[in-house]
Amino acid sequence: MSEKLKFQAIKGVRDILPPESALWNRVEQAAREVFGTFGFAEIRLPIFEPTELFARSVGGDTDIVGKEMYTFEDKPTGLPDPGDTAPVTYFEAVKQAMNTGKLPHNPSILAKIELQLSNYDNRHDAPERAHLIWKSYVSDLQLGESISLRPEATASVVRAYIEHGMQTLPGNVKLFYMGPMFRRERPQKGRYRQFYQIGAELLGQSDAPGIDAELIEMLMTLFERLTLKGAVLHINSIGHNAPNCRPAYVEKLRAELQKVREQLGPDSLRRIETNPLRVLDSKLESEQSFIEKLPRIAEHLCAECKAHYDEVKRQLGLRGISYQENWRLVRGLDYYMRTTFEITAPGLGSQNAVCGGGRYDGLVELLGGQSTTKGIGFAIGTDRLILSLQGTGAGEAPGGLDVYLAWFGAATQPAAISLARRLRDAGFVVELPAVDMKFGKSLGLADRLKARHAVILGENELAEGLVAVKSLADGTQQKLAEPELFSYLRDAKNARK
Ligand code: HAM
Repeated sequence: MSEKLKFQAIKGVRDILPPESALWNRVEQAAREVFGTFGFAEIRLPIFEPTELFARSVGGDTDIVGKEMYTFEDKPTGLPDPGDTAPVTYFEAVKQAMNTGKLPHNPSILAKIELQLSNYDNRHDAPERAHLIWKSYVSDLQLGESISLRPEATASVVRAYIEHGMQTLPGNVKLFYMGPMFRRERPQKGRYRQFYQIGAELLGQSDAPGIDAELIEMLMTLFERLTLKGAVLHINSIGHNAPNCRPAYVEKLRAELQKVREQLGPDSLRRIETNPLRVLDSKLESEQSFIEKLPRIAEHLCAECKAHYDEVKRQLGLRGISYQENWRLVRGLDYYMRTTFEITAPGLGSQNAVCGGGRYDGLVELLGGQSTTKGIGFAIGTDRLILSLQGTGAGEAPGGLDVYLAWFGAATQPAAISLARRLRDAGFVVELPAVDMKFGKSLGLADRLKARHAVILGENELAEGLVAVKSLADGTQQKLAEPELFSYLRDAKNARK
């Protein structure tokens, strides 16, 4: 007996179903509108990129790059499939690809293949088996490029900015994006392996604090537009790379952490060496009391960074934006400098950051672009924003059915089809039964579909040139000619707004 196959979405990924998907659309539409009014335009980016792009920008020692990326080896371009090719021919193809620059020249790979080739020649195995061994050996050489599903999109935006020479564009380059990101984290409420972000990045020659404040203003405007309640803006400055700024602070922190190393958990212990700043991010209960006593970065910023931070706060004040300073806000990605910020929202449990961002002035240069280009941006976790909107009562899905158009008798169907078309053209959401149904069954379906109105077209109505319209909320019913029907439905729609 064959068992029925049952497929389920992979752990940590999910389907977004109606009516929730309507709320997603509303959120994304609001973002497009609000960001548009600040002069931001959409960039659509690839879902995968060279692994190296993320390793360089997000940082090789971060959790994201070190543990959470979905990485795979692409097939090498321009080479035959080793399974279909005689080993000698394959070896020649690899050599040629290296000579012509299609593959990076790598003498140790060539030597390995040559060695394997001579082993292969000497094998006494059955030829098919020997060929399989050869194939698996070649795939172990990893001649293909390492590719990763994007865990975030700032790196891609900066890559695109450089690739398309956008530094020659006038003014600041303001881009926004929305779409899925992938991190292999432990799934829980508000944390998924495929999750969605709505992000914005601003790149240009200036790092004026007014830019930081206006970007945050744009974000808060969106949250206000969505009537998100209880959002709190947390800000910090983590200084920059000059020796008298963050590096000096990090050394001080490292020294203090060494003194309490016996009390640290394994993650923090490791971070003493790799990235002491990240210890400040620790949520471990047992580490909290001494973290609070550690030296604070605000007291160790260089004069320039301190002035920048003070001015960001003043600029936020000018815009009437309230904030909380949070000296432990260091963020989990390596590219940040100076301003960092996060927004928390209620209803999310421990995963309460609904948005994170900050300034990344060195990133363009790090990825091979102009050294003078500065950047700042943020990404909203759309899944979390939606959860919070739903939890705080601001998440009612818009939409729903305006009209259930019940027709009775084959003679009325043509009139029903053309009325449905005119109603839809006027923007009403219409359900038109595909087959003739009994009155009770049809109206019962209208109820179950939660239509706001049933428009009834029977043979009598057709003869009179009228339709009956029934409000399914209060049961009232009247007969109207088409122009009155349209204004009645329009009034009802406006009253709901
Ligand atoms: P991030 O803090 O890693 O920053 O992510 C931004 C937001 O994405 C988080 O605040 C959270 O709401 C959401 N998020 C992250 N991981 C998950 C997950 N596994 N499940 C659900 N939501 C998640 C960045 O990604 C930076 N690229 C932001 C940025 C843009 N900085 C400058 N420009």
